[in-house]
Amino acid sequence: MLRTRILGTGFVTGENLVKNEAIAGLMDTSDQWIRERSGVEQRYYVEKGTTTSDLGLGAARKALDDAGVRAEEVDYIVFATMTPDYFFPGCGGILQHKLGLGPIPALDIRQQCTGFIYGLRTVLLVGAEVHSGFMPWHHWDFVFGRGGEPPTEEEKAWITRFRDRTVLFGDAGGACVLRGAEGERGLLGFQLHSDGKDFQSLYVPACGFAQRPYVSESDLREGRHIPEMNGKHVFKQAVTRMPQVVREVCSRNGVEVRQLDLLIAHQANLRINEMVQRALELPDEKVFNNIQRYGNTTAATIPIALDEARKAGRVKDGNLVCFVGLGAGFHWGAALMRA
Ligand code: ACO
Repeated sequence: MLRTRILGTGFVTGENLVKNEAIAGLMDTSDQWIRERSGVEQRYYVEKGTTTSDLGLGAARKALDDAGVRAEEVDYIVFATMTPDYFFPGCGGILQHKLGLGPIPALDIRQQCTGFIYGLRTVLLVGAEVHSGFMPWHHWDFVFGRGGEPPTEEEKAWITRFRDRTVLFGDAGGACVLRGAEGERGLLGFQLHSDGKDFQSLYVPACGFAQRPYVSESDLREGRHIPEMNGKHVFKQAVTRMPQVVREVCSRNGVEVRQLDLLIAHQANLRINEMVQRALELPDEKVFNNIQRYGNTTAATIPIALDEARKAGRVKDGNLVCFVGLGAGFHWGAALMRA
């Protein structure tokens, strides 16, 4: 039987490591609050000018290298992101150009945190995000510890308005190389879902063609270009939908959840993943989390976690690995792989 196999993985982060303490200089928050509520200890932000397609390029090169596949062998690109370089065109074609490839098909997918799971069918699959463009501050030198001016009290109060979201995210790109191969190893099955009913629980109200013009000065003044989030609702969706879809993908493929060797969940919040783990009754050694070091990097979290887990020896040949994610939209899904 022909199955899609993951041949190689790789990732890169934004250039600048930012610890919680630096974020606490910008707004009314603390390292303790962020760790306790989300698990995040640090994240990376890009240098101004580094784009999502640049992160995708770095990750793709590492994944190709890891797979022992030359860029010219790639015959399809799927690029998952919610922070594309431009409103249009998408990042897939830009990556094709940056990799110096021929005119192969290149697709962008916009399933936010579930983007990577939606794309697990093709050859060079990239998930990358530059979330720093959403951040409601301009004090980058201050955050990066380069001595810039700290925010005034008034600016701090403004930034604090968005603190529930901004502390969670970071910039990074991850990639993997997929290829069909005969045998029992590879991707066994998928379960994908979407439900747009609650899309306003996590979305960017401005900068879209639901309004005319699609962006205005008042949008920027009022912060309508920054995601709005009902954190509690998103949390509740994640801790119910993710265990459900893991059970679904297992049962449709004739596998018991307890037979899984490793669960790699989207890294949105450590508390979410701990609750998913409890609901599925999986022991710690069967779950891989790394949000502490990168924050939520949306479409990049799963390939980054897979790359780290593989390189830490947590994914052995023949292991049964399950990927699961839920993101804005809502879109959610799970995939089952025999390593
Ligand atoms: N620092 C300090 N205090 C804060 C912060 C912060 N960064 N953010 C919020 N607070 C305050 C709130 O104002 C509130 O204060 P109050 O009690 O005086 O009103 C208090 O902390 C508790 O706030 P809650 O919203 O109840 O905190 P909660 O425990 O729900 O945690 C969080 C908030 C971390 C956002 C959580 O709801 C969550 O993770 N939700 C899911 C979010 C998520 O996963 N988003 C990404 C989805 S993926 C994608 O598609 C992009």
